[in-house]
Amino acid sequence: MQEREQWRSGLGFALAAAGSAVGLGNLWGFAYRSSQGGGLAFLILYVLVVLVVCLPVLVAEMVLGRSTASSPFLAPIKAAGENWKPLGWLFAIASCGILSYYAVIMGWTIDTFFHSLFIGLPSDMTEAGEFFGKISSGNSVFVGQIISLLLTAFVVVAGVRGGIEKLTKWAMPFLFGLLLLLAIWAATLSGAWEGYTSFLLKWDSSQLFDKNTISNAFKQAFFSLSLGIGIMVAYSSYLNRKNHLPKEALRVATLDTAVGLLAGLITFPVVMSFGLKDVISESTVGTLFIALPTGFANLGLLGRLIAAVFFGLAFIAAITSSISLMEVPVSSLMDRLNWSRKKAVWTSTLVIFLIGIPSAISTDFLGKSDAICNTLLILGGLLISILLGWIVPNRYDEDLANSNANLRVRRYLKFMLRWVSPPVIAIGLYLTVLSTIE
Ligand code: PHE
Repeated sequence: MQEREQWRSGLGFALAAAGSAVGLGNLWGFAYRSSQGGGLAFLILYVLVVLVVCLPVLVAEMVLGRSTASSPFLAPIKAAGENWKPLGWLFAIASCGILSYYAVIMGWTIDTFFHSLFIGLPSDMTEAGEFFGKISSGNSVFVGQIISLLLTAFVVVAGVRGGIEKLTKWAMPFLFGLLLLLAIWAATLSGAWEGYTSFLLKWDSSQLFDKNTISNAFKQAFFSLSLGIGIMVAYSSYLNRKNHLPKEALRVATLDTAVGLLAGLITFPVVMSFGLKDVISESTVGTLFIALPTGFANLGLLGRLIAAVFFGLAFIAAITSSISLMEVPVSSLMDRLNWSRKKAVWTSTLVIFLIGIPSAISTDFLGKSDAICNTLLILGGLLISILLGWIVPNRYDEDLANSNANLRVRRYLKFMLRWVSPPVIAIGLYLTVLSTIE
């Protein structure tokens, strides 16, 4: 058995967890989903889902990792026996599935970055459509996908401390700082206020009860928090007893939501100022790869520079997420088959590349994979809440008591995990399945 690595510091863990959460999903999801009619109602539902449902599950996922000190594949079995083996499989399948198309989108990000710097960006809507067609088809997609997977693999091969912790420690503050600057810049654009009020702040109370808006809030919350997929199990398994998990979970959720909002505060003014309102609600990634580049291009050379910064940042945000996705199969293979980290990383990379080929060829397939994986995350969250809320509740109590979490906080979380999370997630899952098959 290999010796289990540990984070160098508590902050290292927190930043890696936040790095996993903050990713392309924040940059495209928030803007797109609040523009689908949800507006402020979507935001309210999203915050409610995060606070009421996701936080207790996030803590549960962390407890599962820390208390078993096992990989996502073995942790459910260690906690509750062989019957829970399917949950380990769910984690492995969902993480490989997401990474398979996530790497493709990372490739588009690289391509857009190079267009901003060296080739130029589309200046009107016709050109924008052609531009997206160009970056999302042909051989260049494979090049981008392979580069993204290789970079991810290099970080993960370097290990928890030497790779993941090192990267996220400088990337996260940098990312946050620059996004903040970009949001301030966007606020100075002429359409800024109109941008906020037509999307983020648009109020329509009936949206609070709209099944698509509710399902969007669930999808965005689980995807954006990297929840229900075993990542927090993997990362927490390298933790010692000291970290106060509820605090860590709250930090991750706050930072993640803040970045989603910042992305919206950048996107909407740009989109509004350059008359690109219709593009944004057309397709999930349309906002990121059609509307934004076109908006930036309208500002001439300066715009291209800003675009380069933005897409460079997007790539950094994405890689701190992709490494976390890869850590799920890697740590599982190391744990289950006693493989070396190197062997586990390169095998996973190859398999994930192969599964990703259809997504690299067809954006339609990519969209469908995204919809299915999103549903798997919510199912994973439901199973985790049942596992730690009902099957092995003592584990939740003991682990949190050991790390000195306040009694009131513990009681609240336990109550929510047992009585609120399972039924509410079940409803979210039902609505999400409905909206996926419709
Ligand atoms: N949370 C990441 C994002 O918002 C994506 C992700 C999903 C990462 C699930 C890991 C697991 O982009």
